[in-house]
Amino acid sequence: MTDQPVTIEREGDIALIRIDNPPVNATGQAVRAGIKASIEELNAEGKARAIAIYCAGRTFVAGADIREFGKPMQPPALPDVYNTVESSEIPVIAIMHGTALGGGFELGLSSHARIGLTGLRVGLPEVNIGVIPGASGTQRLPRLAGIPFTLDMALSGRMVPAAEALEHGVIDQLVDGDPRDVALTKAQEVIDGTLVTRRTGALETTPDPEAIATTRAKLEKTAAHLFAPHRVVDAVEKSTGPMDEGLKFERAQFMACMDTPQRAGLINAFFAERAVANIPEKKETPREIASVGVIGGGTMGSGIATSCLLAGLPVTLVEVAQDGLDRGVATITKNLQGAVKRGKLSEAKYDATMAALTPTLAMEDLAEVDLVIEAVFENMDVKKEIFGKLDTICKPGAVLASNTSYLNVDEIAAATGRPQDVIGLHFFSPAHVMRLLEIVVADKTDPAVVATGFALAKRLKKIGVRAEVCDGFIGNRILAHYSKSASYMVLDGASPQQVDDALEAFGFAMGPNRVGDLAGLDIGWANRKRMADQRPSNERYAGLVSDALCENGWYGRKTGKGFYVYEDGRETGPNPALGDILEDARAKDGAPQRDYTDQDIVDRYMTAMISEAARVVEDGIALRPIDVDAVFLFGYGFPRFRGGPLCYADTIGAAELIRRIEAYAQEDAQYWQVPEILRRMAAEGGTFADLNREG
Ligand code: COA
Repeated sequence: MTDQPVTIEREGDIALIRIDNPPVNATGQAVRAGIKASIEELNAEGKARAIAIYCAGRTFVAGADIREFGKPMQPPALPDVYNTVESSEIPVIAIMHGTALGGGFELGLSSHARIGLTGLRVGLPEVNIGVIPGASGTQRLPRLAGIPFTLDMALSGRMVPAAEALEHGVIDQLVDGDPRDVALTKAQEVIDGTLVTRRTGALETTPDPEAIATTRAKLEKTAAHLFAPHRVVDAVEKSTGPMDEGLKFERAQFMACMDTPQRAGLINAFFAERAVANIPEKKETPREIASVGVIGGGTMGSGIATSCLLAGLPVTLVEVAQDGLDRGVATITKNLQGAVKRGKLSEAKYDATMAALTPTLAMEDLAEVDLVIEAVFENMDVKKEIFGKLDTICKPGAVLASNTSYLNVDEIAAATGRPQDVIGLHFFSPAHVMRLLEIVVADKTDPAVVATGFALAKRLKKIGVRAEVCDGFIGNRILAHYSKSASYMVLDGASPQQVDDALEAFGFAMGPNRVGDLAGLDIGWANRKRMADQRPSNERYAGLVSDALCENGWYGRKTGKGFYVYEDGRETGPNPALGDILEDARAKDGAPQRDYTDQDIVDRYMTAMISEAARVVEDGIALRPIDVDAVFLFGYGFPRFRGGPLCYADTIGAAELIRRIEAYAQEDAQYWQVPEILRRMAAEGGTFADLNREG
């Protein structure tokens, strides 16, 4: 790379504009200024007869530089740059390879012809980061490809393969070759008159009021929470009028999106996915994993085995009894068939993938595998026994992992003579679908084994998040804390349904009581019994209502009743017995009854979540606030547009959070305690985002 990210190369009558701004040629300020100046310079010179824009590196421009979002905009603005491109007297063509997304795709749309290279994908992913296309995507694309296709691209954010782009007239040609070579050839064709160029802005959009109306109606149902998708439709609708008015309107909508917390939340989610890989062990060489053993054929074990098989890893599945093993194989078969149906696995590969599964009752069959993942039920004695056996069976250097969701991994490791090889790999159910993998680092875990966990996450297409040992690690520790706040509100007088509805309106896919019904209320019941002797004597008991439901055999969906009643798997209303159960539980609890507004419910629940999340960061269980955000976004259904609990916390601010906690503490000083980290932030004017930058 030269110092300048945009350079001009002159070859006879041809001028090439080369963009070289690693890693993805984003249109940061220097690129914007460089493109504009290059077009102006070449037109002022008036020598070149064709200009071809191409990119160095892995991809054509992959979009605006997201890191500049939310900061003061440095001129020139992208729409001005692209208007300069479109109004160039000398024809300009774009040679696009890799992923031409957002502002990159719009650069193509503003050029006078677009040449795709094999493998190209184009897209308008802006809605994924809370904005709309801001540099003519909603105005130029409908002129080229019509309103329905524009709405599809701009609302789904999907990457459109080159062949489909060609079919819709979005690109003019699809060819093989090196970007620079193609740039020279195609520019020559422009000069020779064999490649036709035209200005997109000179075309007219065919009005389609029906597509606009249907899309609006659909969004009311599917994206009521979101700001940007509705603005996309408004802007695309304007593309039937004069171009300059449409562009002005689009820009205003884009800027309005920029100002929303949703934009900040979605961008935090984008970076969270990538930031979590930045771990202290990232320079270590991972151990090679070419085969995996999974112990336990239950839902988790089968899901983990499925995930490994889908990633092309051979799996030995161990169970203690034949019926358990048969059930495991049946679940894996069903999972893989589902993967074929969903297009995640090709028909052709199904048989070979199934054949890579070796079911066995003999743990000795794990002697040669590179990684063992234990996924039996949560009992420390059983786990210790298994790890003791693995120590005698497995080859030296094999990684020994437990899928425990809260047990102490140091203690499990101590059951072996090789604690350096032991790690926690906490998958989330269903393990072949959920993207989160908590990678739990025990005291003696070898750094190379940690790196191996992250390499595995990548191979399984999961998001690995580093956690230290504590009860429940990052996710379940925080969950155990804030779920009590929901139970307390019910004991205080809110109905379980009001709590669920309020939190769903906030953006959670399901409220906590519906989640409890789905996961099985018996799980929490068993946990409360397990922890009973450790519960502080001054802690308000949160399990009264759930315990009563469980005592009646109502574990949720799987028993047809829990907080709600289910018929054929569909919720039909609250459990009619709840009235009596609540009355009884509230009497036992003894707190005065009160009304909660939906906002009170959200505030208390989120403040409880943030408090424990802050302590998890303070205790060093998570590396940074953004790691906690990633856990909740990718493992707990946290609304993506809110960015994660600690990103959301920054929108409230430390001072207000402290005010709330201190007010709630008037009722329950044991539960509501101000984390030290919040006090420090309030005193210094800091945020969790600052800690991400430092960490
Ligand atoms: N602005 C700033 N940085 C960006 C970026 C953008 N638009 N797109 C990607 N990056 C950064 C990533 O953060 C990552 O940085 P890191 O290495 O420091 O973590 C690096 O570029 C590589 O991206 P990554 O996603 O890891 O690579 P990939 O090859 O898997 O995917 C893309 C490449 C372009 C498909 C993917 O990064 C992407 O979808 N980017 C967003 C595109 C977008 O939304 N554009 C529209 C903006 S208006």
